[in-house]
Amino acid sequence: MKVLVATQKPFAAVAVEGIKKILEEAGHQVVLLEKYAAQEDLISAAGDADAMIIRSDKVDAGVLAAATNLKIVVRAGAGVDNVDLAAASERKVVVMNTPGQNSNAVAELAIAMMIYMSRGQFTPATGSEIMGKRLGIQAFGNVGRLVGKKAGALGMKVSAIDPFLTPEQIAAGGATPLSSVEELYSSSDFVSIHIPATPQTIRSIGHDLIGKMPKGAVLVNTARKEVIDEEGLMTILEERPDLKYVTDVAPDNYAALKEKFGLRVFATPKKMGAQTAEANINAGLAAARQIVDFFATGNTRFQVNK
Ligand code: 3PG
Repeated sequence: MKVLVATQKPFAAVAVEGIKKILEEAGHQVVLLEKYAAQEDLISAAGDADAMIIRSDKVDAGVLAAATNLKIVVRAGAGVDNVDLAAASERKVVVMNTPGQNSNAVAELAIAMMIYMSRGQFTPATGSEIMGKRLGIQAFGNVGRLVGKKAGALGMKVSAIDPFLTPEQIAAGGATPLSSVEELYSSSDFVSIHIPATPQTIRSIGHDLIGKMPKGAVLVNTARKEVIDEEGLMTILEERPDLKYVTDVAPDNYAALKEKFGLRVFATPKKMGAQTAEANINAGLAAARQIVDFFATGNTRFQVNK
């Protein structure tokens, strides 16, 4: 089978080698499309692919329509908001992710961002420590749980909320379960966001919710920019000069935010949460193995568009 590895933001070379080895040893052919300039490049490369490995690459209806041989897409990572799942299902294309494989890298970045903002983005101004501070984790999945564990080891008081978990499950993961998102925001010096971008969550965090945060609080977003209501964020940062926002996913209004709020806001130039060699290896090789297994045995364990 022809497997297209399409990564606008490439995997580390060592991960690419590993992916190739797994697929070629199983008799598949690998085609690499890295750092492509336009969506048209992806559309034409997908034309004769039987399978695809992607990262945040957009597998939309146009790609799916062009990829007439396509049977499976594996998103090497967690979020599948970049794949048109309905269009894939219509064309009987299996979509999978590789849950948990890049979570540690994202969790480490969330911790780093808290410290970075507490230390005034490493300027010599007097900063503050995260030890003893309250951290609220919004969604206690693979990344959220790891952030909680690491934050607890650093002496933070960790609480969490997750609509899909019972309070007992949250407590078993080492965090104090809270009963509402409002309570999480109003009782946390730091909130770390770990929700996916879905119709229910898009623009769900805005002026009112952020405004509930206590004095001097920091909002940390290593999830998706789409979950933030950017106008609401702008307004509340204007009203509350004590609040800070740090994100791995630059908001569309970042230039304006930066100009107005300076060191109170920070966004990475490119999404880098999962951009470690380890995460690339874990997620990339898992994706390759899932494809091999799918063609060999029909295993659809990590399918997300059932
Ligand atoms: C994910 O959903 O797994 C992360 O956002 C990582 O995305 P990336 O592979 O594009 O870095």
